[in-house]
Amino acid sequence: MAKRTKIKQLLATTPIGQSVLVQGWVRTFRNNQFIALNDGSTIDNLQVVVDFESMDQEQLKRITTGAAIGAQGTIVASQGKGQTIEMKAERITIYGDADPETYPLQPKRHSMEFLREIAHLRFKTSTFGAVFRVRHALAFAIHQFFNDRGFVYMHTPIITASDAEGAGEMFRVSTLPAINPPLTPEGKVDYKQDFFERETNLTVSGQLEAELGALAFGEVYTFGPTFRAENSNTSRHLAEFWMIEPEVAFADLEDNMNLAEDMLNSVIRYVLENCREDLEFLDKRLAEEEKSKPQNERSEMGLLEKLEFVINNRFERLTYTEAIDILRNSTPNKKKKFKYLIEGWGADLQSEHERYLVEKHFKKPVILTDYPKQIKAFYMRMNEDNNTVRAMDILFPGIGEIVGGSQREERLDVLKARMAEMHIPEEELYWYLDIRRFGSCPHAGFGLGFERLVQFVTGMSNIRDVIAFPRTPGNASF
Ligand code: 4AD
Ligand code: MG
Repeated sequence: MAKRTKIKQLLATTPIGQSVLVQGWVRTFRNNQFIALNDGSTIDNLQVVVDFESMDQEQLKRITTGAAIGAQGTIVASQGKGQTIEMKAERITIYGDADPETYPLQPKRHSMEFLREIAHLRFKTSTFGAVFRVRHALAFAIHQFFNDRGFVYMHTPIITASDAEGAGEMFRVSTLPAINPPLTPEGKVDYKQDFFERETNLTVSGQLEAELGALAFGEVYTFGPTFRAENSNTSRHLAEFWMIEPEVAFADLEDNMNLAEDMLNSVIRYVLENCREDLEFLDKRLAEEEKSKPQNERSEMGLLEKLEFVINNRFERLTYTEAIDILRNSTPNKKKKFKYLIEGWGADLQSEHERYLVEKHFKKPVILTDYPKQIKAFYMRMNEDNNTVRAMDILFPGIGEIVGGSQREERLDVLKARMAEMHIPEEELYWYLDIRRFGSCPHAGFGLGFERLVQFVTGMSNIRDVIAFPRTPGNASF
């Protein structure tokens, strides 16, 4: 095919007087004359002006919203408002029609719920175009951040036999027949006869394997899909999500917090510099959406303002114990406005508490550390008090927990004792314990939920709208 010029490039270089070929999809066609053409390279459309008098009438009728077309013509300065250049088309090629009677994406407002039902087509809207270009840029910026610092990118297994978080929220992987599977003499399913000759599941986290890498390479990170069979039907939970998990040897909790803060800062800065048009569009979109909310639920800052704010202010750091004091004495707690009232030390924080701390009390991102051991995973390093662990959660406005991490328990005896307390069999994790036997050292890492980051940066209120094909309880379409 003849080489097309991308619209992004045309708008950036404005090559007036040149003849070029553009190819894309019709967004609108006005007055039999003005095509708004989008080719996915940018949120902005190119206005293609056709001379309808010289055009074949049958072909003209086929220029409809959604049709795939090519346009060859000369770039000229635009007379109209809203664009600096446009194309005077000399030849239009129609590759694929889109019947206006049946094509669902006609130019009008569509609800997010409706667009979710047609997720196979929603990339073709301005909103989803912007969201997924930003998602790409964030992924790129994350790889760049770690690469620049000499981290090794590790691909950890997707099928595993261990439960990295010890929370039991796993999807089983099996090739045994669902009806009448082979049984053991005790009448249980006989996984010895299964594909891997043992019980396996989809991974909930690549952390344990990343730790093995960190204790050889020094600094590693993973960026892959993770799966959680938790029955949480919220705007922040997916059953399949992508997680970034750096792991660093010779590092403590403070180094870990610094790394997480630097990473978030750096990737947000990257998109502010490289996705300006998309973010400006999303900023306006969010402002519109906010208007439909009651005054007290509206966010005080616009999207761009919020992103600038996050990169220009240090995150607030405090311990779980300090946070509990603040929450216990807070107005919503005293007036019994929280669904889960904070009565004493040891309670797990709910999203309402996290959001109070971030959005009402500190009004900026918060890092909470040193949680009670009872509410955290087995691998976190025990503090001197034998009661709290060197955990950290980063809480973001509108999102709640965006990062969860910790310094790891590097002492073999302490780790074994903790696993025994939590009834985690040593045999299953012998390899994880071995790394404490041979050249153990202080190390730390964290997990960043990629979709929660994309949600924060794009201002989309539902996590289902920042992943192409969301998997949630009761839904695995496409
Ligand atoms: O806090 P989590 O469960 O921590 C871990 O998995 C550790 N192994 C990470 C580590 O230290 N290497 O999950 C980490 C992050 C959360 O903070 C959240 O952003 C995201 O992953 N997350 C989810 N995102 C979407 N849907 C879900 N169901 C999520 N569960 C966790
Ligand atoms: Mg967590």
